[in-house]
Amino acid sequence: MSNIELKKLPQHIAFIIDGNGRWAKSRGLPRTLGHKAGFETLKKITKECFYNYKIPIVSIYAFSTENWNRPQKEIDYLIDLFEDYTSEKFVKDYPGVKLNVMGDYTKFPDRVVRNVEACMETTKDNKLIFNLGINYSGQDELVYAINGIINDGHKSVTREVVEEYLYTAGQPPVDFCVRTSGEYRLSNFMLWQLAYAELYFPKVKWPGFNRKHLKDSLIEYQSRDRRFGSIKE
Ligand code: IPE
Ligand code: IPE
Ligand code: MG
Repeated sequence: MSNIELKKLPQHIAFIIDGNGRWAKSRGLPRTLGHKAGFETLKKITKECFYNYKIPIVSIYAFSTENWNRPQKEIDYLIDLFEDYTSEKFVKDYPGVKLNVMGDYTKFPDRVVRNVEACMETTKDNKLIFNLGINYSGQDELVYAINGIINDGHKSVTREVVEEYLYTAGQPPVDFCVRTSGEYRLSNFMLWQLAYAELYFPKVKWPGFNRKHLKDSLIEYQSRDRRFGSIKE
């Protein structure tokens, strides 16, 4: 871990895992195989974050509300991957990690809903947190929070109250957000939680993102001067 200062690592890292389709296409493969490879990368990189770098919170954008607009065949393939990812394998693959799904996962087939709920229940007391965004939209999350606030009878709110109603209730904001594949946008991801995050856009497509890319990303993060509106003496 040379060049990395353990004390200056992000406490909450987010990944917008983009470029699976283009990675596959550039190899003459179907897009689905890009997703398959992308999920292998997802497992490798999130484990590296939790267990090597000891980053306690990792957030992943795996499926947006807009992704329903893709061909049904591709959606079905992704649904199978989500089902498999949230099966009992999750508990074995990620000791000490709590699964927290962000997004309305009830829109997925029952087999996914069952796995997600069983996995969240089994892992609920774990201290490391994996926020998995599926059928996720940052704007919808704010609407969901506002509806919760109204239903609980709040007459006025503060930032702290809003935070209690987000999918990330009780968690610190995102420190560092990495989006792969050379696209420079957030595509509706964690709009509230990213308010002061450092952003990084490596060109590599997600399936090709390896441990070295992660390390380089963390070195980049450590080179940033996080001022939070203040000035340096
Ligand atoms: C990211 O890769 C994964 C999901 C959005 C599910 P893409 O599927 O968006 O890959 P590209 O951007 O088309 O290459
Ligand atoms: C963003 O990727 C959503 C996820 C990574 C799940 P997209 O590939 O769907 O986003 P756009 O269409 O390029 O904005
Ligand atoms: Mg994409």
